[in-house]
Amino acid sequence: MKILMISPECAPFSKVGGLADMVSALSKQLAGQGHDVKIFTPLYSCVKKDDSFKKAVYSLSVHLGLGIEEFCAVWSKNLGKAQVYFAEFNKFYARAGIYNEGSVSYADNGARFAFLSKAALEFCGAVNWIPDVIHCHDWTTGFVPVYLNTIYRYAPIGGAATVFTIHNMQHQGIFPREILDYAGLPSGEVFNSRNCEALGNVNLMKGAIYNSTKISTVSPTYAKEIQTKEYGCGLDGLLRFKAADMVGIINGIDYDEWNPSTDKFLPANYSVKDMKGKEICKKALQSRLGLNLDKNVPVFGVVSRLYDQKGLDLLAHIIDPLMSNMKIQLAIVGSGEQWLENSFKRFANVYSGRVGVHIGYDNALSHLLEAGADFFLMPSRFEPCGLNQLYSMAYGTPPIVRHTGGLADTVEQYVEDGAKGDGFVFYDATTSALYNTIGWACSTFYDRKKDLENLRINGMKKDFSWKNSAGDYAKLYIWAKNQRSGLM
Ligand code: ADP
Ligand code: GLC
Repeated sequence: MKILMISPECAPFSKVGGLADMVSALSKQLAGQGHDVKIFTPLYSCVKKDDSFKKAVYSLSVHLGLGIEEFCAVWSKNLGKAQVYFAEFNKFYARAGIYNEGSVSYADNGARFAFLSKAALEFCGAVNWIPDVIHCHDWTTGFVPVYLNTIYRYAPIGGAATVFTIHNMQHQGIFPREILDYAGLPSGEVFNSRNCEALGNVNLMKGAIYNSTKISTVSPTYAKEIQTKEYGCGLDGLLRFKAADMVGIINGIDYDEWNPSTDKFLPANYSVKDMKGKEICKKALQSRLGLNLDKNVPVFGVVSRLYDQKGLDLLAHIIDPLMSNMKIQLAIVGSGEQWLENSFKRFANVYSGRVGVHIGYDNALSHLLEAGADFFLMPSRFEPCGLNQLYSMAYGTPPIVRHTGGLADTVEQYVEDGAKGDGFVFYDATTSALYNTIGWACSTFYDRKKDLENLRINGMKKDFSWKNSAGDYAKLYIWAKNQRSGLM
């Protein structure tokens, strides 16, 4: 099958969160299984364009609305057996951030991603490659299914089926009606409450859900949750309406990148057969974050965007009692909301040697933390899939998670003494539930060492490879393709 992925992020070139990992790992897997996979994504400033990048199109003409025509170059680079195409359009993408700088989103994000969507479709025409399926990711690519159902409906690419993956319902891409004019979309046709319009604005997530042939989200539990008022972020009604066309497919691990026995970011590698390297990683982590070098104290780690979704405000509120009542260390790597960053930095000063904090994005450190910590904290309020809990299980670092979304689907509750399970699961998004569960993990570390050893090994032995999920996507593509071509 010919598959076009259109994505705002693609690891290892550009990444804010797990979407980047998902797009590249899934594409590599599908291409490895024999599919023809092309990824279309922006050439941001963060992409390191070395000599291995080749110019695929010198000057792609992109027709937008209002008579605007822009030109961009397209560079290509292989990623496993998949091919990545980067749109070089400096006016929109040569900036310090991907979506924002500090906590301020770029004011022209609507135009930046309308451009990406339109350029991707015109690129296919320019290189004479018509995909069977176009796989879009989150609101930034939400224009694509709308284009396919309107101005491209009778073009050669109009026969392509669209699959829209929801990675996060919280960000919906809401813009004034004029964005449709810029994109060159017929607002008379699509700016209505069934289609792209919501509360007087354009809502791209809504338009994409309405217009896509099939919808997926990144875990079965999140697929159910978003059909409820509590998790649907206002679009639960539409999602219930489209439920027969929606599936939940869990993300996997790209073991080329995340494997403790080969990870090049670790000072020592290890595996189920020989865990010695994990202790060396713990020492390196403690030293890197200014923690006391003590292998007998459990280290609880965090690697995260610091936003409301992740529930780390709950952690900030219990650091004082944790430090007073438990003999533990905290290792925190992340960036996001200013107050949370400041609060963690302050705790690192107050509890120097026991709380270590790095504010910022650091890929190498995130690998070291997954390996060096004893437990991994993910108290998310909602979590469409979550990759870090998967990485932590693969690295023998049992996760402590809230029972929601992909966390509920991937982490199996520890059963005391029987030593079944691979992590610690709690239900309420409250400080007391988190506090008590950290306490439970802490007592397991000190009092039930054999259980902890089993927990680590159970997680490491789990198979989170992309093979099965990529197979599920391939089935979804066929289903979408048949539906689009009227075979079903
Ligand atoms: P989300 O996509 O919601 O942020 P995921 O768990 O799916 O959550 O994926 C997060 C990804 O981003 C992981 O690969 C994680 O290691 C990475 N990450 C998040 N914050 C940082 C950071 N400060 N430094 C390095 N990597 C980070
Ligand atoms: C989003 C979600 C996260 C998921 C990732 C990749 O960023 O917040 O849960 O793992 O996308 O699908």
